Amino acid sequence: MLNTKTILLVILSLFITACGQKSTLSGDPIAGEALFGQVTIDSAPGCASCHSTEVDKVLVGPSLAGVANRAGERVPDQTAEEYLQNSILEPNLYVVDGFSSGLMYQKYKDILKDEQVRDLVAYLSTLK
Ligand code: HEC
Repeated sequence: MLNTKTILLVILSLFITACGQKSTLSGDPIAGEALFGQVTIDSAPGCASCHSTEVDKVLVGPSLAGVANRAGERVPDQTAEEYLQNSILEPNLYVVDGFSSGLMYQKYKDILKDEQVRDLVAYLSTLK
């Protein structure tokens, strides 16, 4: 007969497997970098038209050099990944000091596929 401990272990291992599967859904940084560098993404402007990845180089938006290091501290209770995803999909939730809200292109959530957002977040996470 199965005792409680065994059942708990089975549940735990299922849980760990599920988490493992989730991480295989995470994005591809190489694809993300390519997307970031595109001049346009469908009808939207490309990220690199407003963002440099060189330190302190401000185009229309802030330099994204080192953004992976800042991302986790921007908004309480948001992980770095959540913050980066929100920055793309809901840019006005947090507006970087010294920049105006509404300046970042607002409609990526209508344009980017989930996979493209994951790829971009994976790429931004490499900018340390
Ligand atoms: C039209 C110009 C423009 C485009 C295009 C643009 N951004 Fe932005 N972005 C901004 C501006 C301005 C800010 C700062 C204001 C704010 O936080 O909304 C910003 C902020 C950000 C931030 C927050 C940076 C930080 O230090 O916290 C991230 C991340 C970001 N953008 C990623 C992207 C990505 C990825 C794309 C392409 C999918 C993109 N942006 C396209 C202008 C732009």
